[in-house]
Amino acid sequence: MTMSIPPETDWEQAPGLLDGAMNLDLTAQQCDLAYWFRGVAQGTLKGRTETGHTAAEPTPEHMRVDGPLRDAQMLELGCRSVAEEQGTRALAHYVVGATNVAEMDFFATQLMDEARHSMVFRNHLVEMGVPAEDLHTTIAGLSAGYREEVLDPILDFAVRALRDEGDFIGAVAVFTIIIEGVLAPAAELSERKWNLLDPAASAIARGAAIDEIRHLTVGSSIVREHLLAHPEYHARLMDIVRRGRKLWDEIPDRKYIMVREHLFQEGMHQHAGLLADYEVWPGKRLLETGPEERYAMAEAWTDKMAAARLAYMGLPEAVDILRLT
Ligand SMILES: [Fe+2]
Ligand SMILES: [Fe+2]
Repeated sequence: MTMSIPPETDWEQAPGLLDGAMNLDLTAQQCDLAYWFRGVAQGTLKGRTETGHTAAEPTPEHMRVDGPLRDAQMLELGCRSVAEEQGTRALAHYVVGATNVAEMDFFATQLMDEARHSMVFRNHLVEMGVPAEDLHTTIAGLSAGYREEVLDPILDFAVRALRDEGDFIGAVAVFTIIIEGVLAPAAELSERKWNLLDPAASAIARGAAIDEIRHLTVGSSIVREHLLAHPEYHARLMDIVRRGRKLWDEIPDRKYIMVREHLFQEGMHQHAGLLADYEVWPGKRLLETGPEERYAMAEAWTDKMAAARLAYMGLPEAVDILRLT
């Protein structure tokens, strides 16, 4: 057995989130405990275990000064840290409900990944000057509405499939398609937005994105293998997809994301000199984008990624049901 770091967990070689989630093929059997300890603990996290970034990826002084840019980051990381925390709690049910040891081991590693994402998102707020002793109350205040209106309903949906309906595969589909699938493009946007304005945060986002590629691809392969072995499960899965879409339409996530995008808009123009010609995606300068346009691009990325993953899973009929744009 080779002891090298798998390229998809190597900081320099790993693909971007959208590219990796659309094109890589990883299974729970491949991503076992040894893979995680070698590839993630000794690869992705090398030199980044404490904060999620290295000393060469600093928190600039302007991120510690009151203003819209700092407010935007506080809101973004406060909410995302709670999303990861609540995700971790939900994943405990997946460890319990896993139908074989390979899946159980994989979800144990995913649970650890999400707990760590919550930690590094949270701790960046301390790097931005939030007193450590006020951290949890500050985050609870920032995220209360988002937690109640967005996170609780979607995580409840996943946990209900597992705990109340005993449907492990359905719950994996909910996490992979609805929860991670929709949050991932926001994570991709975050990495690109903060690249020059807050290098520490961009590195933290990059590290989390490397993990999310694994979560999305392995989750998809679990659903795919089950559907291949049990074609009769297809109808049940489509029912979950339809209920997931209905739920997503009722959730006001846009309202919360737009608040931080508007703050970001004001903040980036105050620091326009740092961005100059920086392109947030090919051919588009970040300074020329607006909140609506960035949100629309994240939705377009979600659709593109979902189309690729759903086809791989054997659920191409779900693409139109889940399409956002
Ligand atoms: Fe995560
Ligand atoms: Fe994840």
